[in-house]
Amino acid sequence: MRIIALVNQKGGVGKSTTAVNLGAALALLGKTVLVIDADPQGNTTTGFGIEKSAETPSIYEVLMRQVTLSEAVRSTEIAQLGVVPATINLAGAEIELVPELSRETRLREAVLPVAERYDYVLVDSPPSLGLLTINALVAATEAIIPVQAEFYALEGLSQLTRVINRVREALNPRLHVSGVLVTMYDGRTRLAVEVLEELARYFPEQVFKTQIPRNVRLSEAPSYGKPVMLFDPKSRGAQAYMALAHELIAPVELHA
Ligand SMILES: Nc1ncnc2c1ncn2[C@@H]1O[C@H](COP(=O)(O)OP(=O)(O)O)[C@@H](O)[C@H]1O
Ligand SMILES: [Mg+2]
Repeated sequence: MRIIALVNQKGGVGKSTTAVNLGAALALLGKTVLVIDADPQGNTTTGFGIEKSAETPSIYEVLMRQVTLSEAVRSTEIAQLGVVPATINLAGAEIELVPELSRETRLREAVLPVAERYDYVLVDSPPSLGLLTINALVAATEAIIPVQAEFYALEGLSQLTRVINRVREALNPRLHVSGVLVTMYDGRTRLAVEVLEELARYFPEQVFKTQIPRNVRLSEAPSYGKPVMLFDPKSRGAQAYMALAHELIAPVELHA
């Protein structure tokens, strides 16, 4: 099983969009997938059309050891895809976890018993480097860093890399960055092309060959509570996430 944390302390880079649509793409390719929403904003939860009422068993109750992870899994329109939602309760977790024992390893503990059941677990994380993101990195076998192709794209990446290295050294030796994903890419602009080149210098082995284009269908799909493949399977956004899923399953040789 691969457990993939989607991390970038910058907001609006496509973490939640990737959690929803990469999760759906992997499931449509026949993998059993669990998507865990570990962001109090709950965008991934909304993206799957799951209601966020405070009574819904969610990742918050899992982290607080009130329910098991299996008890919080919701089914979706795609048979092989389960989701653990986030509700507003999670907003308190970052603070409530601070005095707790094993506060960094709560998610890992919760995921271990279900490990056999899934081929892929994707964990969406908040736009910060707080305890929820640390929990995602400690639980993960790998991290994917979505990066928006814009001027400030690389800002913050060295800090993120340092945090990932520290988690690896202290708590999770197997953790590695399996991919840097360029999102909202427009190959017609020089800036986007330059950002891609700069990322390739900074992460020579890790930038996915698949880029996610800027595509309005990707931003519309969440308001219908559906991954883009169910909303508009022919859209460029849907095709890009299917291509990414293929690349993740069977990495393409990089030719520099
Ligand atoms: N490839 C894309 N094309 C167009 N809009 C996108 C794309 N990826 C994300 N968006 C939109 O950009 C915003 C931020 O994306 P989101 O996935 O929520 O980022 P994050 O989770 O990193 O904060 C959302 O409104 C989303 O719908
Ligand atoms: Mg998000």
